Amino acid sequence: MIRAPYPTARFRRTRSSAPLRALVREHELSVNDLIWPVFVCEGRNERQAVASMPGVERRSVDLIVAVAREAAELGIPAICLFPNTDASLKTEACEEAWNPDNLTNRAIRAIRDAGVEIAVMTDIALDPYNALGHDGIVRDGRIVNDETVEALVRMALAQARAGADILGPSDMMDGRIGAIRAALEADGHQDVAIMSYAAKFASAFYGPFRDAVGASGALKGDKKTYQIDPANRNEALACVGRDLSEGADMVMVKPGLPYLDIARAVKDCFGAPTYAYQVSGEYAMIEAAAANGWIDGERVMIESLVAFRRAGCDGVLTYFAPRVARALAG
Ligand code: PBG
Repeated sequence: MIRAPYPTARFRRTRSSAPLRALVREHELSVNDLIWPVFVCEGRNERQAVASMPGVERRSVDLIVAVAREAAELGIPAICLFPNTDASLKTEACEEAWNPDNLTNRAIRAIRDAGVEIAVMTDIALDPYNALGHDGIVRDGRIVNDETVEALVRMALAQARAGADILGPSDMMDGRIGAIRAALEADGHQDVAIMSYAAKFASAFYGPFRDAVGASGALKGDKKTYQIDPANRNEALACVGRDLSEGADMVMVKPGLPYLDIARAVKDCFGAPTYAYQVSGEYAMIEAAAANGWIDGERVMIESLVAFRRAGCDGVLTYFAPRVARALAG
């Protein structure tokens, strides 16, 4: 990048007023970039605050329809559903995951029946349904890959049949994208998209989420035998390439801000639709600091999301989605 030496070139010239700053702005955050993750719980007209995620609530299916409507009115293109499954329904075989009438599938149908024009994304992983809290089926203390993939396929088909638009496998088993894609094609769901959590790291930033879906109590041990070591960049890129070659339509990096180098590398290497998940721990840190008056929460929220655009992301899953949409609308 060539620039004349000072004082012929002065970078402050193009920073000197709002109109000039607008003209040279390289990246823009838009409501089109937002996916809003929402938590679903049992009941009617039920709202439950998530203690570790101030401002975030679990809502019953009837209220989720209102959330979908609110999102659509704000121009948010997609919401992503996460169920807080009743502990009595959690088993080691995880059958509730593919129950056509489980919380997620009821929520999808309710949104579809209400005719809300929004893309509905789901999560594919067994942890909300697993008595042992893991994303896969546990046998003799090990998370078994291929048997889990069979369960994930059943789960994916149930979600597609309920009317989901984007399926998000977040489990990190090997071979699940190809298996799910083939099953979707065979079952007549050729237009249901897959957003693979392709580069998902074994992160401590997921803590508040596990509270929100009620999985923290059940989980024994950690997820290091299936999620990627935070130290590994090449492995993350290999996983993204593998998932794209198995039929992922969109790929995701997760967590978000601490992994922006991965997002940039994914976009540059593959040029595919690339997303990042600004996860629960990232949200909680910003909210906690803002609540203490240590940072300006609104400004940090926007700045953090612009950073994803700068790193090459086409969109971001963020709990801030409705607030950002309102802020952008002025
Ligand atoms: C579970 C799943 C997790 C998140 C999304 N899907 C947690 C985990 O892997 O333990 C985390 C989202 C967040 O922290 O906001 N498969």
